[in-house]
Amino acid sequence: MRQPIIAGNWKMNKTILESAAFATELAPRLAAFTGVERIVCPPFVALAAVADVLKDTGIKVGAQNVHWEKNGAYTSEIAPNMLQGLVEYVIIGHSEVRANLAETNERVNKRTKAALESGLKPIIAVGESDAQRSASETEAVVTAQVRAALDGVTAAGMAQVVIAYEPIWAIGTGKSASAQIANEVIGGIIRPTLAALYGGAVADTVRIQYGGSVKPENMAEYMALPDVDGALVGGAALKLDDFTQLIEIAAQTKGV
Ligand code: PGA
Repeated sequence: MRQPIIAGNWKMNKTILESAAFATELAPRLAAFTGVERIVCPPFVALAAVADVLKDTGIKVGAQNVHWEKNGAYTSEIAPNMLQGLVEYVIIGHSEVRANLAETNERVNKRTKAALESGLKPIIAVGESDAQRSASETEAVVTAQVRAALDGVTAAGMAQVVIAYEPIWAIGTGKSASAQIANEVIGGIIRPTLAALYGGAVADTVRIQYGGSVKPENMAEYMALPDVDGALVGGAALKLDDFTQLIEIAAQTKGV
């Protein structure tokens, strides 16, 4: 069985002090839900403080991006080995990075491979834009994103990889994809693409999250879908009550 996995993407929110305070309050609230893998992804500068607060709590920490080079003249970037020992996960290819920082499928692939080489677990985000959905390009776009991201990643490497389906039109907009759409893309496009690449047995073990305006009110609908293994959460991850409820609903719906 695939363990449910919920990650909170804090984006560019919370100072170091705010992050540590939030993590301190969050930890006891989430303590009981050990059947769900629980992750928070604060901004880079707060990673050390949050990792310190959450050590021995079972709640894991993720970064929001990683560069592919080991070191060098790459001003503003963070290398994989800088995250080693600090975080377990790293979000790669988030739609805001794709949209605002001209992220490409090729770079997503380089980051993914570099993360895996350094023992970091990538959460690779894929998803179509509004215009692409309207033009019926969802299948082509998402398939290409998944294939490009995983180019050169072995079947063994896939044990460390999480995919997040985040339709761009549903990120931070309050507009969520219906459970039907999430199911069509995750169960009908992403998992079959993984099966084509690695075989059905491997594809069945890869965890796939839904992301995009996930909140306590719609969480159960997504978690009820057998192919959806969790959520990548933005706005609702910044609120103690909401994030706690999301984890609770995941645990209940998945029966863990
Ligand atoms: P949202 O963000 O939940 O605020 O839509 C999701 C994400 O960007 O990961």
